[in-house]
Amino acid sequence: MFDRKRLPPPSTLPPPRSPRYSSSVLLGIPPHTHTHTDDETQFGVSLIDEGLIERFEKVTGHPAHPFLRRGIVFAHRDLNLILDAFEKKEAIYLYTGRGPSSEALHLGHLVPFMFTLWLQKALGGCPVVIQLTDDEKTLCRSLELEKAEELCAANIKDIIAVGFDPKNTFIFSDFEYMGGEVWREIESMRERERERERERERERERGREREERERGRGGERGGGRELRNKKETGKERIKTHFFQLFFQREKKTPTHHHQGALYKNVIRIQRQITFNQVKGIFGFGDSTNIGMVSFPAVQAAPALPDTFPHIFGENQKGARCLVPCAIDQDPYFRMTRDICQRLGHHKTATVEARFFPTLQGEAGKMSASDPNSAIFVTDTPKQIKTKVNKHAFSGGRATVEEHRALGADLGVDIPWKWLQFFEPDDAELAQVGEAYGSGRLLTGEVKARLIERLCEVVGEFQQRRARVDDAAARAFTSVRDMTGLMEGKVFAAKGGPAKKAGKKEGGGGGGEGKKTSREEKREEAKRSEAEAANKE
Ligand code: TRP
Repeated sequence: MFDRKRLPPPSTLPPPRSPRYSSSVLLGIPPHTHTHTDDETQFGVSLIDEGLIERFEKVTGHPAHPFLRRGIVFAHRDLNLILDAFEKKEAIYLYTGRGPSSEALHLGHLVPFMFTLWLQKALGGCPVVIQLTDDEKTLCRSLELEKAEELCAANIKDIIAVGFDPKNTFIFSDFEYMGGEVWREIESMRERERERERERERERERGREREERERGRGGERGGGRELRNKKETGKERIKTHFFQLFFQREKKTPTHHHQGALYKNVIRIQRQITFNQVKGIFGFGDSTNIGMVSFPAVQAAPALPDTFPHIFGENQKGARCLVPCAIDQDPYFRMTRDICQRLGHHKTATVEARFFPTLQGEAGKMSASDPNSAIFVTDTPKQIKTKVNKHAFSGGRATVEEHRALGADLGVDIPWKWLQFFEPDDAELAQVGEAYGSGRLLTGEVKARLIERLCEVVGEFQQRRARVDDAAARAFTSVRDMTGLMEGKVFAAKGGPAKKAGKKEGGGGGGEGKKTSREEKREEAKRSEAEAANKE
């Protein structure tokens, strides 16, 4: 969504290339020991500190992912509340997404998905929903709609190849899911329910026949036993009856109210947000097309669980959503958090990653249009080698003597930064950092190590990708009954007026939701009055 040249205004988004985000892992200093007070006050994100990482490990029983340990995933909103919910076996799910803008993903694109996959495992295999915003890319780029759809289909396969499982992962494109897909699924869920009912009826029938036979035989043997049997079956029947009644009430299947569930939530959200608000958050102006102005609601909607009745069942507002994303997506979720409670939902939680720097250095986001700025998942080992050797920005010194004396400038060195993403071994990494920073290792040696790691990552990816065909993609994208994933989960429904709930919860919320909509309306009224006065 962000056209980085125009959007969003610096006051609302952390500077994308801020050294605050990029140099934190420098020289092995754990990033969370830095003071990032700016982030906390200005944007309302909290930093992921040692304490939170420890708690994560304790609650989930999983050692923290390297991205967490190395401060690559460095900020969050309400992650602590997600851990609380996980502890209490409450329903949680993960939501992430991608705007399909290139044919193949590059390594930077993989980062949030790799992290999401790991989180899903750590959080007990909770559902993951992945949004592909083909609509967004049609609106904000000169991509033709058909082209966006095409890229979307290809990107879905790449995302699957990260290693997701259709059992607990739902991938959808906005164009496809915005329609009435759910309706079809509801029909088939009902059909399955009817079939189950018929099967139960057949089972009861068989039971009655058996009983009859028993009774016949029992009659020969004598009366006492027969009576007892009869009693038990009667009790049994009543039990079954109430059991069924109970389940019919507890395990509601979605109804026609859920046709077009995504679109309905988009509209609910759009109703809550003024142009003034999105202008402030995203920097939209008078010449922004109206699709873009309203799009943030489309990205917000999947953070509300009732966008997915086929996963959460009917009216299951209580599920908590955690969004793993890159820091540039934060404005969307700041906005989302503002409307959650008004719509009766828990506030969306996030975990946010730093940018993956381009080969050329921290200057820009990796771009699909410049093939040399990124390593694509389709690159061959030879291409990877050439790209790294030729284009990776080096913090090494001009001459070997100078390098030995001063050591590499790790603050700008791309091979070193990329190793932090892809070197699995902490000890190795620390060793490279120390030796490179002190001049014992040369750039060429570090690059060679990086190339090895990248070839491994890309090679393994390509093996998985080769197995993803159209049928596999359909297994992830078809709207299907996934309510089984929620079995045994507690839905701590929000309910009640939003304001009260807000007080109890607001945990990571400091600094956000600066103005209530009433304040804003008042201001706007004043402004238009002033404008009117000016005209006169
Ligand atoms: N807007 C994102 C992009 O341009 C795509 C996206 C949609 C997303 N929903 C998301 C990213 C949720 C992270 C989390 O890439």
